[in-house]
Amino acid sequence: MCGIVGYVGSLPVKDILINGLKRLEYRGYDSAGVAMWQPEGLEVVHRVGKVANLEEACADKGAGSTCGIAHTRWATHGRPSEANAHPHVSCDGRIAVVHNGIIENYAELREELLARGHAFRSDTDTEVVAHLVEEYYEGDLLRAVRAATRRLVGAYGLVVTCADEAQTLVVARKDSPIVMGVNDDGCYVASDMVALAKDISDIVVLEDYQLAKLTPAGMVFCGVDGEAIEPEVIHVERDLEEAEKGGYPDFMMKEIYEQPRVIRETLDGRMVNGALSIEELDLSVEELSFIDRVYIIACGTSYHAGLIAKNLIEGWARIPTEVEVASEFRYRNPIITPSTLVVAVSQSGETADTKAAISDARVRGAKVFAITNVVDSSIARESDGVIYTKAKKEISVASTKSFTGQVVSLTLLAMLLGQSKGRLSSSQIRLMFRELADTAGQVEEILSDTSVIERAALACKDATSAFYIGRGISSAICYEGALKLKEISYLHAEAYAAGEMKHGPIALIHEGFPVVTVATKSPVYEKTLSNLQESKTRGALIVAVATEGDEKIKEYADYVLYVPKVRNEFSPITVSVVLQLFARYIAVARGCNVDQPRNLAKSVTVE
Ligand code: G6P
Repeated sequence: MCGIVGYVGSLPVKDILINGLKRLEYRGYDSAGVAMWQPEGLEVVHRVGKVANLEEACADKGAGSTCGIAHTRWATHGRPSEANAHPHVSCDGRIAVVHNGIIENYAELREELLARGHAFRSDTDTEVVAHLVEEYYEGDLLRAVRAATRRLVGAYGLVVTCADEAQTLVVARKDSPIVMGVNDDGCYVASDMVALAKDISDIVVLEDYQLAKLTPAGMVFCGVDGEAIEPEVIHVERDLEEAEKGGYPDFMMKEIYEQPRVIRETLDGRMVNGALSIEELDLSVEELSFIDRVYIIACGTSYHAGLIAKNLIEGWARIPTEVEVASEFRYRNPIITPSTLVVAVSQSGETADTKAAISDARVRGAKVFAITNVVDSSIARESDGVIYTKAKKEISVASTKSFTGQVVSLTLLAMLLGQSKGRLSSSQIRLMFRELADTAGQVEEILSDTSVIERAALACKDATSAFYIGRGISSAICYEGALKLKEISYLHAEAYAAGEMKHGPIALIHEGFPVVTVATKSPVYEKTLSNLQESKTRGALIVAVATEGDEKIKEYADYVLYVPKVRNEFSPITVSVVLQLFARYIAVARGCNVDQPRNLAKSVTVE
């Protein structure tokens, strides 16, 4: 949620911290702060709002400093304010801490520390860590942080610096991602690889209950009891373009236009000698054929990809499939047997609820398979197998290209299950695969002229509310379309199975009320058309997403957004691109920051 960056080495630290924060700003952006080591003490600056405000406030700060920590915040405990912005400091100001996660026992620790005379300046859970480290500090920062972490309950990625230890950072992790790397100029630490120096491609992903001490001489690692450890170094291919807009007005637009590539790369290597290959699943055809229940667990947009997959798995493999919001699943008592397959879908691979839900499912004996975009993320590591979606770094908070990667990956999984159940033949699979691959070109076609989508969006931009309706697999797409609109334009939007309209929602329809109807050619096309007319006759403004060549729909819709003809099961791929663009054009017309919508965070690493 929040973003952390730290550096110690030979270069001026201020620019490294500010640039790192800018790259991390997509994670949280209500306030930001830095602490830079200076011989006379730590220089700490906080500002509410964007990193640009902090940069301005630091204009004449940080001279000569080559060691420091920084943070961009997404508020959980304590409203966005300068006092609540990180870094948090000890009573004497000589220890500073940045933190991602939630310290669950902070209230109890705060009481204890108050009783011992510590004075608190903020309402945050994090501040207890600064005072705890101060309490344990006897000239060895690493030892003090080790002692402090033993007292913490909850999740933390921590970076700590101390005025009494020149050129030193101490890092600790539990359930919140921390990556580190070294180059000729020094050591870098961040909550996300994107904030590490661009030439670092060998990274250390700290594991739970591990700590590190960073100095200009390098990094040393230990466990909570001080035992030396040798963490794994992972080589990653860095995409140096990943955090640049590349000529697009915003990251969301850039990422929407990347979708044909995502489809191609996600499918690359999946058809081997005429057979579907998902070898990462690590289950034989026989084992797959025993699966008699599938749970798809996810949050947000990833959950919507799951709703689409339910239609495919049940349709092709006839395996009962439930799609569950991770935060619900983890507190239920789901029916899991050894023949249950749990599929966790998560762009970031770090979403706290999804992670907790799969740990629980594994304990109960399920085989857990992940679909994620981030190599070596926590969810990838904790699963029995993983498909990577090849979307590459997604910066815009509203998910677009990684959703498409998820839908394509889930489609492959559904095909494989269909085949293993003997319900799809090899020749059917080959034909379906070709058609699935064709969606890349079809998305390109949609992207080549978006003028009608933009016109429809401008017609709806002043609405206060909108409905998205569809049937079958199209109703699943509608949930995602409505979420996109809510997230980035702050326009209220709801999705309904079209048949439900007359059971309540239709009461809200009035003149000019936008009803986005997904009415592509499918077995339920005519039924959807009737629902569209019910809204039309009550004055709704109809925006219909329809199949190219459908002339009839023009009679009822105010705007028709055409998509190329595809197999009904693959329509989510093309239709969702149209709905993403529709939401984005509305958001831009309403003057919203589409990449950084208010109150949202890219990766929700707290419960
Ligand atoms: C946040 C993001 C959404 C995302 C959801 C699940 O709410 O803003 O875009 O869909 O988390 O994230 P995940 O990384 O697990 O897919």
